[in-house]
Amino acid sequence: MKIQHQLKIISNKKITDKLYHLVLEHGKLAAQVKPGQFVEVRIQESLEPFFRRPFSVFRSQKAVEIFYEVRGKGTGILSSQVKGAMLDVMGPLGTAFTLPAKKIKQVVMIGGGIGVAPFMALSDALKNRGHDLLLLYGGRSKEFTFNMAEFKKNGCKVFISTDDGSVGVKGRVSELFDKIEINPDTTMLYTCGPRPMMASVQKFAQEHGLKGQCSCEEVMACGVGVCLGCVVKTTAGYKTVCHDGPVFDLHEIVW
Ligand SMILES: Cc1cc2nc3c(=O)[nH]c(=O)nc-3n(C[C@H](O)[C@H](O)[C@H](O)COP(=O)(O)OP(=O)(O)OC[C@H]3O[C@@H](n4cnc5c(N)ncnc54)[C@H](O)[C@@H]3O)c2cc1C
Ligand code: FES
Repeated sequence: MKIQHQLKIISNKKITDKLYHLVLEHGKLAAQVKPGQFVEVRIQESLEPFFRRPFSVFRSQKAVEIFYEVRGKGTGILSSQVKGAMLDVMGPLGTAFTLPAKKIKQVVMIGGGIGVAPFMALSDALKNRGHDLLLLYGGRSKEFTFNMAEFKKNGCKVFISTDDGSVGVKGRVSELFDKIEINPDTTMLYTCGPRPMMASVQKFAQEHGLKGQCSCEEVMACGVGVCLGCVVKTTAGYKTVCHDGPVFDLHEIVW
């Protein structure tokens, strides 16, 4: 399978102060991506920044879409890339979410901040499969509650918490855990976001015997399992997020 792609930028729109929506042409990549997988983007032609930057694929239907937050140098330069420019994109990389079995009634996606990104692709894949889809989203402020309408279009019931209380419940996403049906046979959890949030989801799942998967975000260098720069501790020893993950069993990570 070809993993290095030269893709033209269709648009790179500023959505809020720090959030951007990057749309790349379909290429051969869109059809290959499974929900939860990511791409490594070479930010620009020059060697600065030297390492590619990893991003979840937000959507891969008519185009390859990425939602990103400007955090530092790489994403800052990426935000200045314009329509028509070419980007060198490596992917699809890493493991994908395992889709829930038919008997699963409630699928709960628990996202924090930009960690909600892979759940758009997951909800695209699940929208016609007869599960009850729930999105519990925790963001810093209203600015981060982007795209909730798109999740609703996919049939998700959306519940929001914000740190500043500007939308939804004030506080952490764990304030929303009472929306989860405690039934180990018919509930499946998926989570992606900051480590403390995913640790709290794991704790909740352990207390109630629920199954789930988490998608880890670590700072990466090579992106293909060689440099060991992205390892996380698991119940089976250290594993790389880029190659063994980013999607792991929820109970496997030792936070
Ligand atoms: C599998 C995976 C999927 C990701 N998906 C997305 C996505 O869909 N959208 C998005 O906006 N970001 C995503 N990220 C995070 C994104 O890769 C980083 O924000 C980006 O690499 C920062 O690059 P930079 O040069 O702008 O920042 P840098 O200058 O490298 O760093 C700026 C700050 O951001 C922190 N940082 C850098 N990388 C990460 C990281 N991976 N996780 C947490 N903090 C980090 C640094 O510690 C530093 O404090 C993902 C990361 C991984 C590993
Ligand atoms: S980034 Fe090099 S092993 Fe994961």
